[in-house]
Amino acid sequence: MQGWWLFGFDKEILNCSFDTKENMEEPMKEPLNGKYPGPTIIVHERDNVQVTVTNKVARNTTIHWHGVRQVRTGWADGPAYITQCPIGAGKTYTYNFSVVDQRGTLWWHAHFSWQRASVYGAFIIYPRTPFPFSAPALQPHHIPLIFGEWWNGDIEVVESEMMLYGGGPKPSDAYTINGLPGPLYPCSTTDTFILTVEPGKTYLLRIINAALNDELFFAIANHSLTVVEIDGIYTKPFTTTAIMITPGQTTNVLLTTNQIPNSNPNFVMATRPYLTSIFPFNNSTTIGFLKYQSNNITKIKNKFELNNNPPIILPQNLPTLQDTSFATQFLNSLKSLASRDYPCSVPETIDKRVVTTISLNLQDCPSNQTCKGFLNKRFYASMNNQSFVRPSISLLESHYHNLTTTQFSSDFPENPPSVFNYTGIDPVSENMSTNFGTKLLIMPFGTRLEIVLQDTNFLNPENHPMHVHGHNFFVVGRGFGNFDVDKDPLGYNLVDPPERNTVAVPVGGWAAIRLVADNPGVWFVHCHLEEHVSWGLAMGFIVENGNEPWECLDIHYNANVARCR
Ligand code: C2O
Repeated sequence: MQGWWLFGFDKEILNCSFDTKENMEEPMKEPLNGKYPGPTIIVHERDNVQVTVTNKVARNTTIHWHGVRQVRTGWADGPAYITQCPIGAGKTYTYNFSVVDQRGTLWWHAHFSWQRASVYGAFIIYPRTPFPFSAPALQPHHIPLIFGEWWNGDIEVVESEMMLYGGGPKPSDAYTINGLPGPLYPCSTTDTFILTVEPGKTYLLRIINAALNDELFFAIANHSLTVVEIDGIYTKPFTTTAIMITPGQTTNVLLTTNQIPNSNPNFVMATRPYLTSIFPFNNSTTIGFLKYQSNNITKIKNKFELNNNPPIILPQNLPTLQDTSFATQFLNSLKSLASRDYPCSVPETIDKRVVTTISLNLQDCPSNQTCKGFLNKRFYASMNNQSFVRPSISLLESHYHNLTTTQFSSDFPENPPSVFNYTGIDPVSENMSTNFGTKLLIMPFGTRLEIVLQDTNFLNPENHPMHVHGHNFFVVGRGFGNFDVDKDPLGYNLVDPPERNTVAVPVGGWAAIRLVADNPGVWFVHCHLEEHVSWGLAMGFIVENGNEPWECLDIHYNANVARCR
């Protein structure tokens, strides 16, 4: 065992705010063992990892290791009611897993309600072999750059109010970089992230989007970025002026400090949303600074002093809020390395294709209730017109123990229940209601699966970051409009498609992903926009055990399962 951590929720962290007098003097309060974001966990490839979580707040929680494949260790995956019961107040749960054939930047976050607004951190896997990219003068320190989204007030109340009235969520109050909102928000000048660098060096930045409801653009003034890894998988390096990153995704970039700082050694780094939604959202920008410091200057205090600086100008290379063409061009540039050492094992043929719509829905308001959604109805969301209902016993436990249960059924529809012009209907006159249930897909071990994720313009077409637990997948195709099963597969990239765990399904378009279902267990598939998960934009699949012992769910973890009952 290489690493062991113990952390817990020291205090109620969800009531923090930084726009009050009190917080001007006392910077943002801190959640996990006095840290926000929480601790960076660093492991090495092939390590066995054990993390004991002690829940010290008076509400339920779980922790998910986002992107860790959890080969045979589904009990340690973390989503509440999918692979485990919540960790109750005062309770402890130990996550035990190995990091198998993965390296790079992933992250961890709470997977209960909207708690990941404040409970998250980086999960870094150091490789055991040298990086496949050359980076002259690469600095040894690897810097996490975690984008977060902050609400003043209790985040679980934000969710429960949204669900109570069926409307959109209260927009967040700030975006953050490494937990700091930066000087564009009220009273937060001293809460600004500053990355101090030396000129003429190359830095590896590990960028993580931990925001709840917003895809984000990121750029640094006067600097370009070279993407070398996404979601813990090396890519063919390419240089870009900015990146687009969805909640759930990670992106490693090289930054070369090739500017000659004049009187102002600070370069603005900025993050703001990529907007495709009609729902209330926070369109603000969080900034930090890249501060050049030459060797012969004694260390400057890592503090931003507004008075000594010229007015803040956002980087010209930061895409505007609705820059779909930048997002598309950026995502289309991502390719797997597909080298001898890092081959791209995309399935060239498939056993099963599942086509699923992704929709926002409107349900009638129950009588004598007030609903605040469009047309005074309630918002929901669905896949193939199934709005996912959370069970009350963990699905993995139901499955593993063969519980005779009505908690789920194995009949998730493999095609849309009706065929229509998914991206071209009149979004208002259509019947946009959905069905509710806990329907899963069941597959034999080793199934080569393709899932086509088809956005619809029910209410509004929107970019959806779809995340699959327990497996990486290959993004073999993306496009706008309706997927055409006769034509579109001919254009798939089966040579070097990007491999990842979260895909941005284009606004008003589709994405096709392929994976080999070789990890027995129960796996959650969901939109990584928290508001959409609350509305039911999720499904799950079961991968059955294979014939060999190493093709089966590890029974040793069974003892560790927290019981819901
Ligand atoms: Cu990042 Cu289901 O989670």
